[in-house]
Amino acid sequence: GDTAIRRDRFTGGPAREFLSSLAADAAIFEADLAVDRAHTVMLAEQGIVDSEVAGDILAALDGVEDAGHGALPDGEDVHEAIETAVIDRVGPDGGRMHTARSRNDEVATCIRYRLRGDLLDAAEATVAAREVLVDVAGEHAETVMPGYTHLQPAQPTTVAHYLLSYEGGLARDAERLLGAYDRVNRSPLGAAAFAGTPFDVDRDRTAELLGFDGTVRNSMDAASARDFLAESASALATLATTLSGLAEDLIVFSNKGVVELADAYASTSSIMPQKKNPDTLELTRGVAGDAIGEATGTLSLLKGLPRAYNRDLQRAHASVFEIAGDVREATEVAAGAVATTEWDEDALAAAAGEGFSTATGVADLLAMAGLPFRTAHEIVASAAPAVEDGDDPATAAAKVDEAARAVLGESLFERVSRDEVERVLDPAASVASRDSAGGPAPAAVAEDLTA
Ligand code: ARG
Repeated sequence: GDTAIRRDRFTGGPAREFLSSLAADAAIFEADLAVDRAHTVMLAEQGIVDSEVAGDILAALDGVEDAGHGALPDGEDVHEAIETAVIDRVGPDGGRMHTARSRNDEVATCIRYRLRGDLLDAAEATVAAREVLVDVAGEHAETVMPGYTHLQPAQPTTVAHYLLSYEGGLARDAERLLGAYDRVNRSPLGAAAFAGTPFDVDRDRTAELLGFDGTVRNSMDAASARDFLAESASALATLATTLSGLAEDLIVFSNKGVVELADAYASTSSIMPQKKNPDTLELTRGVAGDAIGEATGTLSLLKGLPRAYNRDLQRAHASVFEIAGDVREATEVAAGAVATTEWDEDALAAAAGEGFSTATGVADLLAMAGLPFRTAHEIVASAAPAVEDGDDPATAAAKVDEAARAVLGESLFERVSRDEVERVLDPAASVASRDSAGGPAPAAVAEDLTA
């Protein structure tokens, strides 16, 4: 019949492999079966296909599913191969399955159906990662650590405050994934090639059967649009970028000897027997590069494509599914690494005081005592080169006072007590004093943890 004629005409010749997406379509095998079932049910309900034939088609689809993607006959893509397998089982009536649709609306529906699950899996992994960050933060509200800017000691903070900074980022990453999900979760089915169909299809019904939250209404938009792929890839790349920062921090912290990764998240060297390397975190960092490439690659593929369907689109989605899996895995691994990392409280406390990291607290104290902040900053800045890592608070306070005398012509201790200056030179006290909303003071963090 017609199918045989078509197959003779497009055997593909030397370009057959190049044209075929059948192997990559393994990712949408289940989706295509679901789409076929929903479409067939709708065709029967609308009286477009006889319900007995529809029943035979549905039974054949069950058989195709049981046999698996690997058992499909050769075809240009999974849609054609499944249709051929159905016709092989049902006879020519199996060809009624493709009434009132095109592979264009079919594949667009399959991509959205599949991607929904990928986005939800990634979002779920961010929820689990946030739980880990909150749990570990709960154990380390008082664990003082160095905070860095430009990777230089800046101000002491706590492990809890540091970890919750990533929890906030992951919360937004999850929102972006779920925002993308909302726009992915619309059915293009019934758009046919792009120009609709004369058959009395019920697009809302197939959307409902496939669990979509409505349809992409305009049939040309429905068949052509892949902006949802670019948006999803971007949301995944943004999540991966958040994780890459966390991974990089932990790599640096383990290099400084203030954290110890669990063996399960480290790797060894095949030659250097002493090595324990943060490979899982490096791979997490690496996934971000791939995800960014995926986002830019998707946009590059889509840029300038004319309406309506173009075969370029066949290359747009498989890699997005793949990166979604990679980013989900990176999220799980990063969470596992955080959950099992040992924070060396003594080493962190020692590092927290290095590089005169309490300098800002001293300037704040002078400003609170009535000096203009800029003058306070000048005093502490001129003391800074003299202050050394080993200085005890009394020594450091004396050095700051010396600078104050030079700048002000009088002792600092005319304005603030020596005790107070020595107190804010202590990293833990410095942290505790910064109790502004969202600040690192254990009291402020405790509020955020229970909020
Ligand atoms: N495998 C194709 C894709 O993924 C299906 C659509 C083919 N449609 C066409 N007009 N050639 O895009």
